[in-house]
Amino acid sequence: MTAVLAGLGTCLPPRVVGNRELSQRLDTSDDWIQARTGIHERRIADTGTTTVGMATSAADAALSDSGMADVDALVLATSTPDQLCPGSAPQVAAGLGLSGIPALDVNAACTGFLYALATAGGMLAAELAERVLVIGADTFSRLCDPDDRTTAPIFGDGAGAVVLRAGTAAEPGALGPFDLHADGTRANLLVVPAGGSKQRFSDNSHDYFLHMQGREVFRHACAKMAESVLAVLRVARLPLAGVDRLVGHQANLRILQTLAARLGLDEKHLVTNIGHVGNTSAASIPLALADAVDGGHLRPGHHVVLTAFGAGLTWGSSVLTWPPVRGNMQGHRIPEDSYEPVVR
Ligand code: COA
Repeated sequence: MTAVLAGLGTCLPPRVVGNRELSQRLDTSDDWIQARTGIHERRIADTGTTTVGMATSAADAALSDSGMADVDALVLATSTPDQLCPGSAPQVAAGLGLSGIPALDVNAACTGFLYALATAGGMLAAELAERVLVIGADTFSRLCDPDDRTTAPIFGDGAGAVVLRAGTAAEPGALGPFDLHADGTRANLLVVPAGGSKQRFSDNSHDYFLHMQGREVFRHACAKMAESVLAVLRVARLPLAGVDRLVGHQANLRILQTLAARLGLDEKHLVTNIGHVGNTSAASIPLALADAVDGGHLRPGHHVVLTAFGAGLTWGSSVLTWPPVRGNMQGHRIPEDSYEPVVR
């Protein structure tokens, strides 16, 4: 059995925070953020809006897009769960009225959605389930120090979900192969030092926030995603010239442009929505897919490569042929100009 994509849904919190608003309280500027990251604005969850809430809303939208009433299992990719313990996936299942189905969190940071897709694919192949919800949801604004100009402008909040069903490898929407990797020797490049078992409490409140070595992360992201895309294309026997859309994790527009250049892929094949949502971590790929479908930039029959990179370090890629799935964005549409690649 192969996992086949059968529905797509998203949820973005309504509050839009633009670069100008950030530059009123941080030593930064709209020009710097746009030039160095491609981000114009991001969505920020208000108090009371949590990862579980956004994940449940996106999953509900994906279910209605698929036309299915329920699923047999749920995998939630997140590194910002509502609590450290328990995992958030059972609460999402409960919110959907699906208490009792197996539900687990996958923490692979910004690569989490790809890891979760592979996990769900394994459940389908092992015949543990016939339909699985895979959700990517993160509330990274809660992990960013609001006074840190090196992280606060980068991240936004949101959720995206897909419904996978058991099918065959020849069908449009069939996922795979996958290429997945991790390197824990570089965990310090993106880390929240306190709050876990290593450093439960800290006198320094900054230890509870995300610390990022941006330049190093940038370098590794470009190199590892390029390697991974080439590896997955080799296994899929898909030539680069056959790739219609590259849907990369939206961490920085310059990372995506460097990736396209390294691969020798024309930027018109890049899917980008980072300008309006920022880096939404595990939600990034499903949000980008939904925006591209909604804007007509991603159409049935397109050969799509998914690729991501994140804390851990983790990275990976997969491929699929886009199926006749329309996506349910629940009115959170963004302007179509975000599909135009920005060339500097
Ligand atoms: N506004 C203004 N200046 C800023 C700034 C901001 N928001 N953030 C950093 N700077 C400054 C730095 O202090 C530095 O100043 P200096 O030259 O006086 O020391 C200068 O800008 C350049 O900093 P640098 O970190 O080299 O910038 P950069 O071009 O690498 O861009 C990132 C910074 C974070 C945008 C970039 O490194 C990046 O996107 N990295 C990857 C991040 C990522 O993907 N994270 C998630 C992984 S999933």
